[in-house]
Amino acid sequence: MGRITLHRGDITTEAEADAIVNAANSSLLGGGGVDGAIHRAAGPALLQECRRLGGCATGDAKITGAGNLPVKHVIHAVGPVWHGGGAGEPEALASCYARAIELAAEHGDARVALPAISTGVYGYPLDLAASVAIDATRKALDAHPEVEEARFWLFGEPAYAAFEAALS
Ligand code: AR6
Repeated sequence: MGRITLHRGDITTEAEADAIVNAANSSLLGGGGVDGAIHRAAGPALLQECRRLGGCATGDAKITGAGNLPVKHVIHAVGPVWHGGGAGEPEALASCYARAIELAAEHGDARVALPAISTGVYGYPLDLAASVAIDATRKALDAHPEVEEARFWLFGEPAYAAFEAALS
C-alpha cells in the first residue's frame, strides 16, 4: 500500500511529485490561498484549461495539465466550507481526497502532493480536517496501489502538528 508522508513548506515550490492537488473553489477559476499560489506558479495556461472544465461540485475533483509547474498534472479538488460539521462537511472533505487519488491513479501519477484542503479560507478546523484527510487518503491509496505516495505539504506548524497527530 502507498505511503503517506508529511512535509513543511510551499506546495508550489517544494513538492516533488507527479501531480499537485489544488484546494480550489467550484468555479475552478482561481482564488486566494494555495489556489492563488498554484495559478501564479503555473501561469495563464492553467486558467485557460480550467475555463473549459465548467466548474466542479463540492467533494469532487478535476484534472488538468500543470502549465509551468514542474509536475504533470494539477488536480483541482473542491473542499467544503465549514458550517459547524453537521452539513456533510466530513463526507465532502473525504470525497475530495478519494477523487483526487482516483484521478491520479487514472492518469499515471505515482506521487501526489496535497495541501490541507478546506483548512484556510474555508475554515475547517485543522485537527478535524487532518483526521478526515489521513483516513480518506489511506483508504484511497489502498484502493489504488498505482499511487505510491501521498505527500502532504503543510503550511505552518499547527497544520503539520495536526497531521502528525492524525497519522500516528
Ligand atoms: N502551500 C501549501 N499550503 C498552502 C499554501 C502553499 N503555497 N498556501 C496556503 N496553504 P486555502 P481552502 C495552506 O485557503 O480552505 C481559495 O480562494 C493554508 O494554510 O488555500 O480549501 C480557493 O479559490 C491552509 O492550511 O484553501 C477557494 O475559494 C490550506 O493550504 C478557497 O480558497 C488550505 O487553505 C478554498 O479554501
